[in-house]
Order: sequence, then structure tokens, then C-alpha cells
Amino acid sequence: MKQRCNLFLALAALAAVAAGPVSAGAQAAAAWRPLLIYYSLTGSTRIVAAELGRALRCEQLELTSLRERTGFWKVNCVIDQLFDRDDVPGPVKLEIAQYNPIIIACPIWIHRLASPMRTFLDHGRIAGKEVYVIVTHQGNYGDKDEQSVRQFLAARAMHLKGYSAVLTRGTTEAEIVNATKAIIKRNFSEMEKPVSGTTNQNGGCDNE
Ligand SMILES: Cc1cc2nc3c(=O)[nH]c(=O)nc-3n(C[C@H](O)[C@H](O)[C@H](O)COP(=O)(O)O)c2cc1C
Repeated sequence: MKQRCNLFLALAALAAVAAGPVSAGAQAAAAWRPLLIYYSLTGSTRIVAAELGRALRCEQLELTSLRERTGFWKVNCVIDQLFDRDDVPGPVKLEIAQYNPIIIACPIWIHRLASPMRTFLDHGRIAGKEVYVIVTHQGNYGDKDEQSVRQFLAARAMHLKGYSAVLTRGTTEAEIVNATKAIIKRNFSEMEKPVSGTTNQNGGCDNE
């Protein structure tokens, strides 16, 4: 019995040597496929997303809403938030399962993530993923709001790796870009690696 066990161990060792060394770097590269998912109603978060996409060269998915939200119908945003109403989402063709980590960029509406993002996250497609979150807001946002967003994510089994906020009230586009650059430096410096291009909404490539 002992001899058979030794033979098995020897064969296993031989197979491992034949397969060659697998470095930690190679394992990380295999698991590495970030996806940026964002929603923007009035454009500020889209500036954040554009800078993230440019710097990280990761694939991107912009969430769309089929609910009228312009002019008077901004009231729909308020109703969604106050009554915890789901969004009516536009189509998402991308297969999310193949990506990790996920970077989420989203405006704060009435102290919570905007309903198009909440609805998307509620469908569980990000459960179990490592997640970086960047919210944009106009200053009526504090620690309590951050804690409740963190709880929302944790309750949906997301593993929060980073959380940042960008103030957009009275800021220029350049200031939003600079704030995003600082977030990238703080959270994602190891992610700033070139790949062949970035992919938009549902798969098309946006090479610079
Ligand atoms: C319906 C609605 C509710 C909002 N509620 C808040 C809020 O509670 N706190 C805050 O600081 N900003 C709030 N804002 C401002 C947005 O968070 C901010 O302008 C954000 O940067 C907009 O992102 P976007 O331009 O990508 O849509 C709200 C905006 C809207 C439209």
C-alpha cells in the first residue's frame, strides 16, 4: 500500500514538472477581465466612465433606461427612488459572467444608487464578483449614504474592493476627469495595463 502511494506521488510530481511552472502572474492574467458598467442621465458619470475606459482600457457596458426621464419626467427618477420601483431597462447583450472585476460608475439619486443601476444589480448578475464602485453626486451625500450603498452591494453578494465618490456640482469636465484620475491612481494603478482596445456597450471595439 505504501509503495503504491509513493508511486502515485512520484507520478503526480512528474506530471506537475511536465506541465511546467504556472506563475502567480500567469494565474492572475487568466482571471483578469475587468468590465466597466455605468449609467449616466445627464453626462457627468459618462465623463468618469470615459476616463476609466481610457486609462484602464477595459470593456464597457453603458446601461440604458427605457423609462422617460427628461424634462418633467425626471419625476420618474424620484418616484423610482422613493418607492423602490424597478427601472425599465434597455437590452443588455453582454455575457457578464466572463468578467471580473466589475467597475461600477453611477449617479446618486435621493441618497441611493440610481434606479437603472439598482435594477441591474438586483438581477444578481454581479453576485460573487469583485467590485469597484464610483458614485457621482452633487454634495448632498454623506457617510450614511455610503454605508447604505455598501450594504446594498454586500446584500447582493458583491465583494467590494474599492469605493469612491466624485462631486459633480459646480465642476468642469476637466475637474471630473482629474478626480477620476486620482481614483484610478488610488484604486487601480495595477490595472492600468494596455490591451488591444476597449469594447463598448455589447461587444464592439473602441480603439483609440
Ligand atoms: C433624481 C435625482 C436625484 C438626485 N439626488 C441626489 C442626492 O440625493 N444627492 C446628491 O448629492 N446628488 C443628487 N443628485 C445629483 C446627481 O447625483 C449628480 O448630478 C450626478 O453627478 C449626475 O450624474 P449623471 O450626470 O451621470 O446623470 C440627483 C440627481 C437626480 C437627477
